[in-house]
Amino acid sequence: METSFWRDLWRTKPVDQIVREGGGGEGGHLKRSMTLLQLTFFSVGATLGTGIFVVMGEATPLAGPAVVLAFLLAAVTALFSALSYAELAGTIPVSGSSYSYTYATMGELVAWVCGWCLMLEYGVSVSAVAVGWAQYLNDFLDKAFGFRIPDAWSQAPDKGGIVNLTAVLVVAAMTVLLLRGASESAKVNTAMVFFKIGLLLFFCVVAFTGFRSGNLTPFMPLGVAGVSAAGAQVFFSYIGFDAASTAGEEAKNPKRDLPLAIIFSLVIVTTLYVLVALAAVGAMPWQELDSDTEASLSAILTDVTGTSWAALLLSAGAVIAITSVVLTVLYGQTRILFAMSRDGLIPPLFQKVNARTSVPVGNTLAVGLFVSVLAALIPLDHLTDATSIGTLFAFALVNLGVMVLRRTKPDLPRSFRTPFYPLTPLLGVFFCLYVMQGLRWITWAVFGLWTLAGLAFYFGYSRRHSVLRRQERERADGR
Ligand code: ALA
Repeated sequence: METSFWRDLWRTKPVDQIVREGGGGEGGHLKRSMTLLQLTFFSVGATLGTGIFVVMGEATPLAGPAVVLAFLLAAVTALFSALSYAELAGTIPVSGSSYSYTYATMGELVAWVCGWCLMLEYGVSVSAVAVGWAQYLNDFLDKAFGFRIPDAWSQAPDKGGIVNLTAVLVVAAMTVLLLRGASESAKVNTAMVFFKIGLLLFFCVVAFTGFRSGNLTPFMPLGVAGVSAAGAQVFFSYIGFDAASTAGEEAKNPKRDLPLAIIFSLVIVTTLYVLVALAAVGAMPWQELDSDTEASLSAILTDVTGTSWAALLLSAGAVIAITSVVLTVLYGQTRILFAMSRDGLIPPLFQKVNARTSVPVGNTLAVGLFVSVLAALIPLDHLTDATSIGTLFAFALVNLGVMVLRRTKPDLPRSFRTPFYPLTPLLGVFFCLYVMQGLRWITWAVFGLWTLAGLAFYFGYSRRHSVLRRQERERADGR
């Protein structure tokens, strides 16, 4: 009994079984409809949003013009994990992302904790992003029509509101879109991503016409420490590049396309971030860029063009940019829960797929509801650090997962192999832990409580309902 208890916790799910089950379960099948472009834009859609519109402004005073380097530093941190994601997504192309990879490599308990943390990366972060969206919508309405949704309906209770219905609006709208099907959602997302890339390039083109090299000297007024502090802060803007790995079972050619989509999306967002940061600090002395970047980006365009329509365009653009983050991150959360439900670790409601639309309807509604409640009641700043710590933990596990799988299954066919192995995943783990240790103690406390709640659920429900456990017992009984 004692030994089987411990053995159960570490049982791994065989890779071939995960891959065989991919695409469906007892509740029905997802549909393979997504192309490489759509997958890449899914990741870009989930990544490019609040970070470049808000967080860059907060990070610039920490580093000066070297905020450009801060974006590169954060990109390097993300890159090691991205390579590990690419290897595992190509090897185990299912919908559970790092949860499924961990189940195959480190066993059920660690996989459960990973899946639980992914709820911070996806479910909790999307609430934060929806709250940010509400602020931008008000900003846009104000600039365009001189009208604002009253605080009572656009702020959380402890920010002077009653309930943030504005944030709920975007969550509800994107939930409805997701219910129409993955392919519909991917098409709308692709259009939004084209728009937001176009908008940021437009910003760069205009801002570069006002570029003055004198604004870049001294380049690093606050030293290396400033750059690394800013780098930790802008890391948030890279979260989401892994979103394609939640679409493994809806990709047309997952083994080839998932690794490419993850790497391409990281290259696209890094290029854009560096260009935008360079254009911004080149066009205006960094001391004049206040912490309200959305306004700063607008201010730069207004300064350079001498007109005010730019401010309006930027806030409209931010609304669309953030809408696409909400859509893709909501989607990711539903697919991770789908995989966990198929394994029996959460209730079967989450894997039931509608036969006509191939959408997990109950799952999508439950996620929409959960995210709406958080977005309606909790202010943004309480949610973002929790997102970062959960994400970094999941990233660290993915880097470890690559190393475990290379040892345990060296001959498994891999469509992508991380270069410079084992240095790359080792550096991936190191960078994740490095950024994690810099987070505040309160964030660690929240993370600890969250993990304890997750463990309580695991021992109260998941362990007893685990499909893998049941299968192993059935096999043992049949012997
Ligand atoms: N990377 C995402 C954003 O910046 C979370 O909005």
